[in-house]
Amino acid sequence: MASQEEVFKKIIAHCKEYGFVFPSSEIYDGLAAVYDYGQNGVELKNNIKKYWWDSMILLHENIVGIDAAIFMHPTIWKASGHVDAFNDPLIDNKDSKKRYRADVLIEEQLAKYDDKIAKEVEKAAKKFGESFDAELYKTTNPRVLEHTAKRNALHERFAKAMNGNDLNELKEIIIDEGIVCPISGTKNWTDVRQFNLMFSTEMGSTSDSSMKIYLRPETAQGIFVNYLNVQKTGRMKIPFGIAQIGKAFRNEIVARQFIFRMREFEQMEMQFFVKPGDEMQWFDHWKAFRLKWHKALGLGDQKYRFHDHEKLAHYANAATDIEFEMPFGFKEVEGIHSRTNFDLSQHAKFSGKKIEYFDPETNQSYTPYVIETSIGVDRMFLSIICSSYCEETLDNGESRVVLKLPQVLAPIKACIMPLVKKDGLPEKAREIMNSLKFDFKCAYDEKDSIGKRYRRQDAIGTPFCITIDHQTLEDNCVTVRYRDTMQQERVSIDTLHHMISDAVNMKNLFKKIVS
Ligand code: GAP
Repeated sequence: MASQEEVFKKIIAHCKEYGFVFPSSEIYDGLAAVYDYGQNGVELKNNIKKYWWDSMILLHENIVGIDAAIFMHPTIWKASGHVDAFNDPLIDNKDSKKRYRADVLIEEQLAKYDDKIAKEVEKAAKKFGESFDAELYKTTNPRVLEHTAKRNALHERFAKAMNGNDLNELKEIIIDEGIVCPISGTKNWTDVRQFNLMFSTEMGSTSDSSMKIYLRPETAQGIFVNYLNVQKTGRMKIPFGIAQIGKAFRNEIVARQFIFRMREFEQMEMQFFVKPGDEMQWFDHWKAFRLKWHKALGLGDQKYRFHDHEKLAHYANAATDIEFEMPFGFKEVEGIHSRTNFDLSQHAKFSGKKIEYFDPETNQSYTPYVIETSIGVDRMFLSIICSSYCEETLDNGESRVVLKLPQVLAPIKACIMPLVKKDGLPEKAREIMNSLKFDFKCAYDEKDSIGKRYRRQDAIGTPFCITIDHQTLEDNCVTVRYRDTMQQERVSIDTLHHMISDAVNMKNLFKKIVS
């Protein structure tokens, strides 16, 4: 059986071959950690964004959207803390000249201990069979206890160093653990330094008048600086939310794992403004809501878990991640943060404007607290592609690659195929396509055998293939072939619209979320 690493490589190749994701600037040998979405990728991405946007805007009468500019006044990033604190600790290996995130090197070391423990337990489970008690083994076996003690000691030391921003200690940990550079294999490390992740550029035409501005590293600040505009013009009453989808940029040091960690990516963020003191109740509310949103897609409930943050960002008093099981382990897809009144207070301080909410019921003014839900479109895309990718061996010995995408997100909903390119069948097929195309993204394919055409659609996740044959001209019926089961059914042309609509309507997902 292929390893998860091999499967992941196949998924990346599949994304390129079938027009989902291309490396950026490929004819110039690419640009590290930047990707372009192709003809199918952009459809899937737009469908993900629509699912998120409508779940915020349609399902909540107290949430509205905005679209703020990427360029913003540079003082915003001073106020938000990003100029001073949006850093990663980095370390260089002097022999390979490769740069690493010190925290990632240590996290990988922790994962190695976890692996060792898991392997010991797995070995014992095989040896002792059904009567094996894994929990008892973990608390009594001397080798497992030794690994666990080392792991916990490292974890404690690491958390303390990160919380205290102790760069010397991070280097000491790397030395003490004997962590080597994967390229050179040596322990010849530089000191650990802080590296700011924001990209900057100049705005203005002359050198005197130009100012340094930043490409936003999160979309959230565009919401905070528009809080007053939206609250006043929308006559919004607390609690209320502002949602936004847009590009964000980070000069990631370790940019790996395909579109998981990119330098240019897209976020879907919602800031929910609440009364001070109510924030934990809303934090729990949004955790539950967002998990339901994910699970409604049907990718498998067991693939999600919460991961509470130990080291809180400079603005948060509680934070959790929704992690998804990717081929390279459970990884963060979304963050839910209780950001206190930090951002609004800071913008009030730095801009000199009063940024508050007047509560008409109590006749009091206050600076609202904020619960944020922040999800990366690209990571969501990756989680969906990874869990939908299947290689199947068929009864006749042939194999097929099929993307079992949630039907509602599929780039193309139906492919219309005349059996042959003559006898009036293409004309009939075009007629059907023309009646469906106003509501569904459809494809038309008359080339090659029907089998080959099915495979092409399977590979991009099209839920329905509709074949028009000679009989169609007589009985007004077509053969519908279903992607996942490969079963075929003869149906009347008049029922096609209804059948597709039923299967790909987002309403089905929304009902699951609000039920
Ligand atoms: N406004 C809060 C914020 O930006 P974050 O945890 O840094 O929080 C939120 O980012 C989400 O944005 C992450 O859960 C992830 O899905 C996505 N994201 C962050 N950095 C990314 C990167 N370099 N590439 C792709 N997605 C990224």
